[in-house]
Amino acid sequence: MQRHYIEFTTPDTAIMMADTVSMPANNEVLISVHHAGVNRADLLQRLGLYPPPADASPIPGLEIAGEVVAIGEDVTYCSVGDRVCALAHGGGYASTAMVREDHCLLLPEPLSSEQGAALPEALLTVWYNVFERGMLAHNETALIHGGSSGIGSLGIQMVRAMGANALSTAGSEERCAAVTKLGADFVANHREGNLFEQFKAAGYAEQINVILDIAGGDLMQANLDLAAPDGRIVCIGVMRGMQSEINIATLFMKRLTLTGSTLRRLDTASRAACFQAIREHIWPEVLAGNIAPVIDSTFPLADVLAAHEYMRSGHHFGKLLLDCQVS
Ligand SMILES: NC(=O)c1ccc[n+]([C@@H]2O[C@H](COP(=O)([O-])OP(=O)(O)OC[C@H]3O[C@@H](n4cnc5c(N)ncnc54)[C@H](OP(=O)(O)O)[C@@H]3O)[C@@H](O)[C@H]2O)c1
Repeated sequence: MQRHYIEFTTPDTAIMMADTVSMPANNEVLISVHHAGVNRADLLQRLGLYPPPADASPIPGLEIAGEVVAIGEDVTYCSVGDRVCALAHGGGYASTAMVREDHCLLLPEPLSSEQGAALPEALLTVWYNVFERGMLAHNETALIHGGSSGIGSLGIQMVRAMGANALSTAGSEERCAAVTKLGADFVANHREGNLFEQFKAAGYAEQINVILDIAGGDLMQANLDLAAPDGRIVCIGVMRGMQSEINIATLFMKRLTLTGSTLRRLDTASRAACFQAIREHIWPEVLAGNIAPVIDSTFPLADVLAAHEYMRSGHHFGKLLLDCQVS
C-alpha cells in the first residue's frame, strides 16, 4: 500500500513524499488517515527545536482519525473497517499511519473524522496532567490557562464534565467571552493588568486546587500565589519562557506541588493506561456531546505550512486540522 507523507526538508519547505507501508506488527493497527491534528510541538519539530524521541517516526503528526485498513495478529480492540482516532508516535502527517491498538479510540457516528482528529492529544494531555498528576477531585477548582488553545478549550469541558469548577485565561476580551461559553466560571485576560488581582477580585485568590500552565515564564509566580493550600501546579509549556524567578517560600508556606510532563516522552504503557481511563471516564461524555472539540479550521495536507503559520500567528481558536486524503 502506498503512503503519501510530509517531510520538512528545511524549516520552510514541506515536500509531499511517497513510499510503501509495511503491514502491522502484533499489536499495531494501520489506519487510512482522513484527518490529522496540528500541535505546537509540530511547529517546534519543523524548526529543529523539538527533535522526536529516538523510537518515534521522524514524520511529524501526533494525532489522527480515519479508517482501520489492516491489523496485527494480536489486535482485539478494533477491526478492519472501524473508524478510529488515535495518538501517533509521529507519522500523522500522512495518508496512512501505524499506531498501537491501545492508543486508539473507536469513533462511532455521529462523531466526524475532523472531531476525532482534534481529540487524542488534548484528551491525553489534560487527563494525564490535570487528573493524574494534578489529582483534580470532584468539586475542586482548576485553572486551565490558555482556554482558547486546543488543549485549553477541551480541558475546560473535561474539568466541568468531571464535576469540578473551571477557571481560565485568554488573550483578549473577545477570546475571554468565547472561553466563558465553553463552561469556565471566570476567565482572566492575561494581556490586561495583573493576573493575580483579576482572580482575587473575582474571589478566587488562593482558592485554586489545580493549575494547568501552558505558558511558564512569568506566569509561574502568579500560579503559586493563586494556588490554594496543598494546590498542585502542572506546567506543560513554555510560551512565556523557560526561566522563571519564583518565591520558593510560597511552596512550603502552602505545601504546594510543582510538577510537569510532556506527552511525547511518556512511556507507552502509561499512555495506554491514560487511554483506558479516558474510555471509562471521559469517552462517554464525548459520545453524549458533553465534551466537544472546538475546531477552528482544516487545511489540505499539502498546505501544512499555511496551517503552521496560522497557528504561529495565534489568531486561531481551538484546533487546526489537516485533511490527509491525498488523491
Ligand atoms: N507537555 C505536553 O505534553 C503538551 C502537550 C500538548 C500541548 N502542550 C503545550 O500546550 C500549549 C498549548 O498547545 P496547543 O497545541 O493547544 O496550542 P494552541 O492551540 O496554539 O494554543 C496556544 C494558546 O496559547 C495562548 N497564548 C499565546 N501566547 C500566550 C502567552 N504569552 N501567555 C499565555 N497564553 C498565551 C493563545 O491564546 P490567547 O491568544 O487567547 O492567549 C493560544 O490559544 C503549548 O505550549 C504546547 O506546547 C504541551
